[in-house]
Amino acid sequence: MNAPSNAAWWTESVTYQIYVRSFADSDGDGVGDLNGIRSRLPYLRELGVDAVWLTPCYPSPQHDHGYDVADYTDIEPAYGTLHDFDRLVAEAHGLGLRVLLDIVPNHCSVEHPWFRAALAAGPGSPERERFHFRPGDGDDPPNNWRSMFGGPAWQRTPDGEWFLHLFTPEQPDWNWNHPDVVEMFEGVLRFWLDRGVDGFRIDAAQGLHKDPELPDVADPFEEERIADATNVHAWNRPEVHEVYRAWRRIADEYAARDGSDRPLIGEITGIGKRHLHEYVQPDQLHQGFFWDLLDSPFDAEAFATTIRRGQEQAARTGAPVTWVLGNHDTVRVATRYGGGAPGAGPGDIEAGTARARAAALLALALPGAVYIYQGEELALPEVVDLPLDRITDPIYWRTEGRRLGRDGCRIPLPWNGTTAPFGFSGTPHTWLPQPLSFARHTVEHAQSDPASTWHLYRQALRLRRDLLADAGPLQLLPAPPGALVFRRGHGFTCALNTGDAPVDAPHPGTPLLSSAPLPDGKLPADTAAWWTD
Ligand code: NOJ
Repeated sequence: MNAPSNAAWWTESVTYQIYVRSFADSDGDGVGDLNGIRSRLPYLRELGVDAVWLTPCYPSPQHDHGYDVADYTDIEPAYGTLHDFDRLVAEAHGLGLRVLLDIVPNHCSVEHPWFRAALAAGPGSPERERFHFRPGDGDDPPNNWRSMFGGPAWQRTPDGEWFLHLFTPEQPDWNWNHPDVVEMFEGVLRFWLDRGVDGFRIDAAQGLHKDPELPDVADPFEEERIADATNVHAWNRPEVHEVYRAWRRIADEYAARDGSDRPLIGEITGIGKRHLHEYVQPDQLHQGFFWDLLDSPFDAEAFATTIRRGQEQAARTGAPVTWVLGNHDTVRVATRYGGGAPGAGPGDIEAGTARARAAALLALALPGAVYIYQGEELALPEVVDLPLDRITDPIYWRTEGRRLGRDGCRIPLPWNGTTAPFGFSGTPHTWLPQPLSFARHTVEHAQSDPASTWHLYRQALRLRRDLLADAGPLQLLPAPPGALVFRRGHGFTCALNTGDAPVDAPHPGTPLLSSAPLPDGKLPADTAAWWTD
């Protein structure tokens, strides 16, 4: 089952994002690993997804949990070995699951051998040219840029020069004008493609190139205020498209060998968002996350606007939209829709969960690809009250506690049992502590309850495969206030009610699936349903 045989399998696929540290731990050190993932692949097959995306699993000092890469062609020892990786890929393929890797081209780790060599070689050396080293302005950094995680974007070295880091000081930015960098990354893509990887999620894909003059920005604190990438001299530079044209040629070369595409999926944020169509092109990236859905409040009108924008995007690029409700950087959807957040409290978790279930049916009914973040199928809430001394996200430290960071959506997954580690590990001392309340959210618990969110996802994924694979575009229909209704293909209808009161079910046909019961043929508040004629 699963992997469709067509070349463009990614256009309608459902990909499950595995946050490697928090999915499953096989060796009892409290940190997830590749053999843990291997042991749970049958779970993903049973759920019914088409592919997995693994967050970075390269050797890394873990200052940003793997997004600080020390070696792009090996496996983090705490996660396993290349041999484990090969077995993971083979077993996933055996189950019909594709495997996407996360590639991090904007920056590496201070422990990358080329950065260590650059530090050792000193000012003016060719080694330093692979990064952005500059003399400062007296005791001040070379310009006024701030890092995405707070603080200046420059770190001073003992010899007085500064180097650029758009994220933490442990993540120096590569100089993409340097041919060594270009060539190295092309080799990295080939290395993993040769090992059977099916595609790549590209981290901070609108980054890479910088304005070579490194001019000051008008409002250096804007990025920190809105927590998004707006520095026009550092993001979304025109030269980056040439990088992706070269990468696409490589992906297409491998696709031509066996007729199966190797998609490139860009994480394009900040000012890049409104330029997404410039990246998603037949000669560049196959996909880019379409953030409008994730950014949208739980509101029918906002969802309708999102869908229209998605349709425009698809028309402009010729590629179906890539929908996403959550990821490892965002407050979990069940908490977000209930008004909760770290520091702000849990919110109305009951309403949030009902809305998250409804939004899942919405996303899975839309034309295009869908990415599910691990735990969404369990309606896992955000942990909003992590003890401050357990916070590990560099955002917390870099903003001096003003932002609590992303740990709350990265808590190790609860699999079974009633106490920590809930089957995640052999030790209860997991890298982030699991709350007791996770007992209500285990996979075991969810699988034993036919009304659980897990069963909702599983049924939705099956129906989607059977009814929507070739259903084509979508048509929005008139709907009662607070509701959204659309049709696809031959007789498929999806409706969602974000208002306060039940509305008449918009369709007289047979209900296929609903996120809550439909009493008296009405669609209750915070509910979505699918019908067939
Ligand atoms: C985006 C990733 O999703 C995030 O987790 C990471 O911290 C930054 N890029 C830096 O690599």
